[in-house]
Amino acid sequence: MADNILVAVAWPYANGSIHLGQAAGCYLPADIFARYHRLKGNNVLMVSGSDSHGTPITLQAEKTGKSPDDIVDSYHNEFLNNWRKFGISFDLFTTTRTENHSNVVEKIFNKLLEKGHIYKSSMSQPFCPKDNRFLPDRYVEGVCPNCDFEAARGDQCDNCGRTLDPQDLKEIKCRICSDTPEFRNSEHFFLKLTDFEDSLADWIQTQSHWKTNVKNFSKAYIQKGLKDRAITRDINWGVPVPVQGYENKRIYVWFEAVIGYLSASIEWSESQVDVKWEDFWTGDSKAYYFMGKDNIPFHTIIWPAILTGYEGLNLPYDVPANEYLQLEGLKFSTSRDWAVWLPEYLDKYDPDPLRYVLTAIMPETSDSDFTWEQYKRLNNDELVATFGNLVHRTLSMLGRNFDSQIPEKPAKLDDESIQLLEFASKELENIALNIELCKFKLALESAMKIARNANQYLDAKKPWHTIKTSVDETKKTLWVSLAILNCLKIGLYPFLPFTAEKLHGMLGYGDEINSSGWNWQPDDLISGSILPKPQPLFKKIDIDEDN
Ligand code: MF3
Ligand code: ZN
Repeated sequence: MADNILVAVAWPYANGSIHLGQAAGCYLPADIFARYHRLKGNNVLMVSGSDSHGTPITLQAEKTGKSPDDIVDSYHNEFLNNWRKFGISFDLFTTTRTENHSNVVEKIFNKLLEKGHIYKSSMSQPFCPKDNRFLPDRYVEGVCPNCDFEAARGDQCDNCGRTLDPQDLKEIKCRICSDTPEFRNSEHFFLKLTDFEDSLADWIQTQSHWKTNVKNFSKAYIQKGLKDRAITRDINWGVPVPVQGYENKRIYVWFEAVIGYLSASIEWSESQVDVKWEDFWTGDSKAYYFMGKDNIPFHTIIWPAILTGYEGLNLPYDVPANEYLQLEGLKFSTSRDWAVWLPEYLDKYDPDPLRYVLTAIMPETSDSDFTWEQYKRLNNDELVATFGNLVHRTLSMLGRNFDSQIPEKPAKLDDESIQLLEFASKELENIALNIELCKFKLALESAMKIARNANQYLDAKKPWHTIKTSVDETKKTLWVSLAILNCLKIGLYPFLPFTAEKLHGMLGYGDEINSSGWNWQPDDLISGSILPKPQPLFKKIDIDEDN
């Protein structure tokens, strides 16, 4: 029976371009995971969208003099282009601006209100007399009460990950004029997180399959005690509050954005015939949430609290959050323009080498570092010299000596050949196992081991020599090598989808890889077929070349 798997990916704020840190942090791992499971025959629903509300968007609009709508539209389109070019295979990438989303948010809000998990209270909020306005979330900055970081925002500290309220900040400042705001009372709705403290603590405790960092962070978070959190704001950009008298307030962006996973699933299901969104939210279905570590509390505490209060829908099964990717030793920073922007990269270079490098250095258990030097080295040494070379020499020898015709399956194979084929089969299983455990680096290493061993096999068999003495022997060697390429095409597909698809065609298949599934037998080869002229899969990059 096929499994139903929800691949839920953090919604990027539509206020700036995607950088490589985000690509390595969640979009790429989610895509590898989704592609693998689809190939395996499981039902996958991969959703996300543009996080379009909240102060991240209004601040950007004010800074650039554009309307929030224009900002959201232009980045949303940019994101869609990025996914297409980078091969991030969302089933739906929507936005939080849809009517469907507002409706789903309203439904959840009302149910929690009815059940007493949401209540009304007054909140003391920073108000800037000079700018004559309330200053929610990112409109204020100050010193973190938890770790003393100096530029903590009113909603979260970027240094320790703690979620905050403005009144928690020490030395609070208005980000528009830098003056010290005063505090005024304003009426808001609160999510009663205290209702869920015990059940969430028990739930987190039993998640033995979670990554250590995710589990420890969430446990420590709960041990410090949960505080009820305001889920409305004094702004006019966002999802309306479905209560009279709240026309000038909006729902807090984090409360509604996490609901996006559900509303996007519902939106997707409207275009489907035989599948329902419930298939991915109830029963034995499993939900995996991909994100960077700053998003952990929203996915292991706040969203599970909302779901628990709402009842009837599955809590996250796994939250394989990544640590941070740095750039040449320093943190990615949008404000300091210290970043490699995904759209700029994709304008100039191919997607797969970047997918390869970002997987090889993925910050799965600790922060890691992207450097161009290493990008070039991994491209040249591993993609070009190991995998590309294996493909090239196999197919060009077949072309030169056998008119590109795939030989018949040999009647008997020697020990080295049997060993190599068995090794490939075992490593293909390791790739599957590790992808299922969200250990993508290990999975990629297994694939590269197959390629390296196959190169050694060719070095030892020397088909370029044996062609002078034994045509049969040479045919056998090339048959084995071709079988290995067929295996690598499957094992590498989740990581290098464009290249794998090209290789699939070069091995004589007229359809797409998806139709063959995550299966490999050496004799899957279509013996007797004439292969098309091979194309190079990767380009060597001059080490001194500028980027
Ligand atoms: N927009 C948030 C960020 O970039 C992530 C939102 S994830 C969601 O950090 F689940 F809330 F949508
Ligand atoms: Zn802090």
